[in-house]
Amino acid sequence: IRVLFATSEVFPLVKTGGLADVSASLPEALCRNGYDVNILLPGYPTALSAARSAGSRRQARFSIGQYEVSLWRTRLPGTAVSLWLVDCPSLFQRDGNPYQNDEGEDWWDNAHRYHLFARVGVMMSLGQAGINWVPDIVHCNDWQTGLIPAYLSHYKHRPGLVFTIHNLAYQGLFSHETFRALGLPDSLWQFDQLEFHGQLSFIKGGLVFSDRVTTVSPGYANEIQRPEFGYGLDGLLRHRQQALVGILNGIDTRQWNPEEDEHLEFHYGIDHLKNKAQCQTRLRQELGLAMDGAPLLGFVGRLVEQKGIDWLLDVIPPLLERGCQFVVLGAGEERYQVPLRQLARDWPQQLSLTLGYNEGLSHGITAGADIFLMPSRYEPCGLNQLYSLRYGTIPVVHGVGGLGDTVFDPAEVDGHKANGFRFREPHSGALLHAIERALDCMNNRKAWHRLQENGMAGDYSWKRSATLYGELYQSIVTEREQLTQ
Ligand code: ADP
Ligand code: GLC
Repeated sequence: IRVLFATSEVFPLVKTGGLADVSASLPEALCRNGYDVNILLPGYPTALSAARSAGSRRQARFSIGQYEVSLWRTRLPGTAVSLWLVDCPSLFQRDGNPYQNDEGEDWWDNAHRYHLFARVGVMMSLGQAGINWVPDIVHCNDWQTGLIPAYLSHYKHRPGLVFTIHNLAYQGLFSHETFRALGLPDSLWQFDQLEFHGQLSFIKGGLVFSDRVTTVSPGYANEIQRPEFGYGLDGLLRHRQQALVGILNGIDTRQWNPEEDEHLEFHYGIDHLKNKAQCQTRLRQELGLAMDGAPLLGFVGRLVEQKGIDWLLDVIPPLLERGCQFVVLGAGEERYQVPLRQLARDWPQQLSLTLGYNEGLSHGITAGADIFLMPSRYEPCGLNQLYSLRYGTIPVVHGVGGLGDTVFDPAEVDGHKANGFRFREPHSGALLHAIERALDCMNNRKAWHRLQENGMAGDYSWKRSATLYGELYQSIVTEREQLTQ
């Protein structure tokens, strides 16, 4: 089966969050299982320069409306996975974050950028892009790719369509004016198509017109059918219940392996945990934290409302008073940066803050912390808790979405299954209580060690989930064969 995997970010070329990780590791796992997966990515500067230095070439050239487009074919660095880049300098030749300018504002022409991207995906899907590869399945991801199914659904002979929701809160909403400026067919402006309360919704294109809609954990698949987590789309998702499935993300077990992590100086594993302490010492040294035996609590993530940063800000001061140390790494909103900076100034020996994106440090924290905090308001899957589990770092999480599917609390499950702590009520008091339980447990070396072992013994690879995606593709292909016979 040939699969076109359309995505707006992919590790290591361009990344703002977990979508990039999944867009690299899932296609790789599928390729290993014998699928011919080709990734389609906008031609951002980092991606094009990687392609050029790999000696790749332009494969096709055409125009779409006012835009001159060329398609480059290369490989995802370090893998055998084919990668197509949509080169359109006026839309994608911009450094930094793929969606925003340096001031943290969305690019004014995002609708045009991802509309063009979608149209190229459509041309490839219909064999009109001048390359001799046509997919059986187009696998779209998040709102940036939502218009691909919307366009393709009008064709009888088209590939099967899978749309994966990585985050339902980001919907790609634009004005009616924009809808017209893009030249989308008028027939799409209906409440059961692309219109959403008077706006154009890119994500609805994926949700309405795909053969199957998936999301990245079974827990989140249930949650988004309820108003609290549905962001106004729960009704539509209930309507599409039969086509909706939650498949838990895996991780790249080579990038994230404490036995041979290239970002770490010391390595360790489940039966030789001693070096984890060395990782901690090194982290403290690097970041200028006091060299004492205080519990070290880590956070890595986008500084946005989703991640529960305000709850974190509530609990940090009382825990600092009690002697805990914190390592925080994140990029995001100013309203969270300001109070974090203040805390780092007031507690230089106990709280280290790194603003910005730092791959190496994220590994250092995952290995060096005792406890990893993920108090997310909602979490479609979450990868950091999986990394932490694999590194013997105990996660303390809000038990929603994928966090609820992967972190098990000793207060709720058998000792052989427990691997972390979770809280249910959505407020900072509940977070504090869960951290206190974790700190208590740390005093009991045996119990703590048991949690670490349970976490480290888990299988977080793509093995099971890649098979599920494969079966999903197969069932759609079979369905479509019957339909078009
Ligand atoms: P989300 O996709 O919602 O941001 P995930 O947990 O799925 O959350 O994935 C986040 C990914 O981004 C992880 O690989 C995490 O380590 C990484 N990450 C987030 N912020 C940073 C940062 N400031 N520096 C380095 N890596 C980061
Ligand atoms: C999103 C979600 C995150 C998920 C990631 C990859 O960014 O916020 O929970 O792990 O996508 O699917």
